[in-house]
Amino acid sequence: LLSISIALVGNFSISQLCQPSRIITAVNGQLPGPTIYAREGDTVVVHLLNTSPYNMTIHWHGVLQRGTPWADGPVMVTQCPVRPGCNYTYRFNVDGQEGTLWWHAHISFHRATVYGALVIKPRGGAKAYPFPKPDKEHVVILGEWWNASVYDMERMAFLTGIPAPHADAYTINGKPGDFYNCSAANQTDVFDVRQNKTYLLRIINAGMNTPLFFKVANHQFTVVGADACYTKPYKTDVVVVSPGQTVDALMVANAAVRRYYMAASPYDSAIPRGPPFSDTTATAVVQYVGVQHTTARPVLPRRPAVNDTAIAHRFFSSMTALLLPGKPTVPLAVDTHMFVTVGLGVSDCRQEQLLCNRTAPPVFSSSINNASFVLPKDTSMLEAHFNNAAAGIYTRDFPDTPPVIFDYTGDESDNATMQYTTKSTKVKTLRYNTTVEMVLQNTRLIAKESHPMHIHGFNFFILAQDFGNYDKNTAARKFNLVDPQERNTVAVPTGGWAVIRFVADNPGMWYMHCHFDAHITLGLAMVFEVLDGPTPETSVPPPPADLPRC
Ligand code: C2O
Repeated sequence: LLSISIALVGNFSISQLCQPSRIITAVNGQLPGPTIYAREGDTVVVHLLNTSPYNMTIHWHGVLQRGTPWADGPVMVTQCPVRPGCNYTYRFNVDGQEGTLWWHAHISFHRATVYGALVIKPRGGAKAYPFPKPDKEHVVILGEWWNASVYDMERMAFLTGIPAPHADAYTINGKPGDFYNCSAANQTDVFDVRQNKTYLLRIINAGMNTPLFFKVANHQFTVVGADACYTKPYKTDVVVVSPGQTVDALMVANAAVRRYYMAASPYDSAIPRGPPFSDTTATAVVQYVGVQHTTARPVLPRRPAVNDTAIAHRFFSSMTALLLPGKPTVPLAVDTHMFVTVGLGVSDCRQEQLLCNRTAPPVFSSSINNASFVLPKDTSMLEAHFNNAAAGIYTRDFPDTPPVIFDYTGDESDNATMQYTTKSTKVKTLRYNTTVEMVLQNTRLIAKESHPMHIHGFNFFILAQDFGNYDKNTAARKFNLVDPQERNTVAVPTGGWAVIRFVADNPGMWYMHCHFDAHITLGLAMVFEVLDGPTPETSVPPPPADLPRC
């Protein structure tokens, strides 16, 4: 089976938030871009034709890309950019994956407008779900909208080390909804339901920098999947999705009046009292067809406080895997242990040719183990790896532990340990088929935040997560080695830690990074270099003939 789609990335005009016609870069003239539907086992072929004035790449977020590392998409990691007027064909399969994934540009901040859903159904269709078959399905893509050019914003952030500004609006299926200025009726998404029917909501946080609380007034959800991995049914009235994550949830339409709001509101743990944008909420309308009883306005859900870390933690740590025959289970023996800090810090702008004020060298930076990742300029890392030509492109000295161990989340001043990060392109090299356990420790050097850490090429099992400093003497007792949830993105608890495990059975160069784009620009990223296995099938294949040249 083959699904073929053509993605034309070009500049299109859109009317949003009091701007009558704003030019954005989008796929096929749509925001969000088209949903790609596939079945487990399909080969997906997407012809990308770049008619925009910008360099472009597309990443298939959560697709494991086993044997197809050249189709992964992150710029300068697995490919050079597709130049304006040029094209590239992405070809990959979705073996062993079912659920909701998505796709997005993986260059500069273009994913703010270049994104869409990728829905993978079981081979047997909807009747083969491991949960009661829903009457209907609905894709809910949450996003962020800027009135300014996202490309210019990223350039500025990169050149100055000053993080990009907050979004002007959150969106549901590209539309901000009724609570923003100039949000006319055509800027609110409407979702028709019928009484007593069951709906499968495929909720995706395609936003750039903000975890979101998602609710529908007077309705409950049963979570059945996350990041295209099935979960044990979990009942909740709030879904928490960090950028990069997806949640599949069943919702029974069993309420009494005609219209309810679904609402996505920010969860930002960094600012204790809530940032000025905390009153902004994206809304869409759930409308009961055939129900006459109506209220003046749709019923609005009660939204969690912007800093309600407890709700987020409960949601994330309540999720466990649905154990199914033939699905991977958590590996019990570990070959490589890593302890990495993730967070914000400072670097010396004089060393980085930034536009800095030379009397005040420190600028914002972000890092993993104090190594602040920069992409190479001349060759993609996968080409350098494949050609055995790493020299000048990357080095293999990624540190397994941070340079200084201190109280990462304590309240005493940590200035002494706030050493400059080093800007570098370091990779962690893994032998084929080794099992990696990674402790991700958030820091509070600049701000306590919940960084959504995303990996390419793999899913990982989330063994445990909690607040405070990771303590290796007590943490193992908290590990779930029975039914830990598999995901591709973990929201590391604010001022806390998470432990993940994965098997490096996919040769190639795999990006791991914070899915806040503002933090990627500042360096919160790394790359795993996974070496070839013993056979051609377990080795990186030669690049496709149309792979873009730098
Ligand atoms: Cu959706 Cu590298 O990310």
